[in-house]
Amino acid sequence: MQLNTLKEKFEQLYGEKEVQSFFAPGRINLIGEHTDYNGGNVFPCAITLGTYGIASKRKDGTVKLYSENFPETGIISFDLNDLEYKKEHNWANYPKGVLKFLKEAGHDISTGLEMVIYGNIPNGAGLSSSASIELLMGVVLEELFQLTVDRLDLIQIGKKVENEFIGVNSGIMDQFAVGMGEKNKAILLDTNTLDYEMVPVELTEHVIVIMNSKKRRELADSKYNERRSECEQALSELQSVLDIQSLGELDEMTFESNKQVISNEVLVRRAKHAVYENQRTLKATKALKSGDLATFGTLMNDSHLSTQNDYEVTGIELDTLVHSAWKQPGVVGARMTGAGFGGCAIAIVQKDNTDIFIKDVGSEYESKIGYGAEFYIAEISDGAKIL
Ligand code: GLA
Repeated sequence: MQLNTLKEKFEQLYGEKEVQSFFAPGRINLIGEHTDYNGGNVFPCAITLGTYGIASKRKDGTVKLYSENFPETGIISFDLNDLEYKKEHNWANYPKGVLKFLKEAGHDISTGLEMVIYGNIPNGAGLSSSASIELLMGVVLEELFQLTVDRLDLIQIGKKVENEFIGVNSGIMDQFAVGMGEKNKAILLDTNTLDYEMVPVELTEHVIVIMNSKKRRELADSKYNERRSECEQALSELQSVLDIQSLGELDEMTFESNKQVISNEVLVRRAKHAVYENQRTLKATKALKSGDLATFGTLMNDSHLSTQNDYEVTGIELDTLVHSAWKQPGVVGARMTGAGFGGCAIAIVQKDNTDIFIKDVGSEYESKIGYGAEFYIAEISDGAKIL
């Protein structure tokens, strides 16, 4: 959909007004999965698939939100003084939560607004459409009300919306990638200190292919929270012999020589993933920086096996995509991306092989799973911004 079509929609719904246009991306994570709530490193980047918004300030205290992705829901309307979570407000709870927490942080938002949004991130694909909407609302409010909000504060507010308003216990990776992204760069983020480094992603003869399993992520939230508490339990057992605050502080050797204090085999595997994946992320980033794409790819493959066997967050759909990708010519590496339990995987593929890659992985997937996957070429984009 074109921005102009979205502007026409705005006019049709709210009348002719002075409007401004905004964009917030989705994200993929190159490596460093399920490490962000374990005090480890992540390596995501923002992508050009994202959410567009057209917005204008109102004179009264009413907020009106409409999404072209959910036309049947129509305009969702609420008052600036009534910013509680409401189930029937559906997707609008995300921007509402941002509004609430920005106000609570003391920012002067004294009137309502009208907005139309449209996202081209495939629904429920694990490419962070929710963080995208949160940060979109953040930049909209910043601009309409001329607020001065530190970008990191906006990112933290997005996370707070997930954790306290929506009720998903997620880490900071998604909001950070969507808020801080830069064209053609990935972000090496240490989630313990929040120190980060922008790393150029120069793939020359290669592209990143996103493979959407189209598997609905039904159990995603409950399983996600379960993994989090398994890691917390393993950490607290390790703390009986080690002076650490998070699993991200451990290297492989220290983990191996202390893991016997963890009470059961499942918890050992969960913690092992968190520790090894964090170290892998550091190694992979180093490889990419020195132009060693082959090592980067091998580490992506190891990462997938670890999420498959030790962390157990992949499932038949993601495994089929990734294992099929590994067999194709011109593939440097492939792994699941995001929370897992469905959603998307990524592969780094030689440009000339892309068409045949998509055809072959696509047909193997369809014959094994019974329905088709979808494929997109990822372009690494800027973070949330006014257009
Ligand atoms: C989801 C969460 C992130 C992160 C990933 C797994 O995307 O929102 O915080 O934990 O899963 O790496």
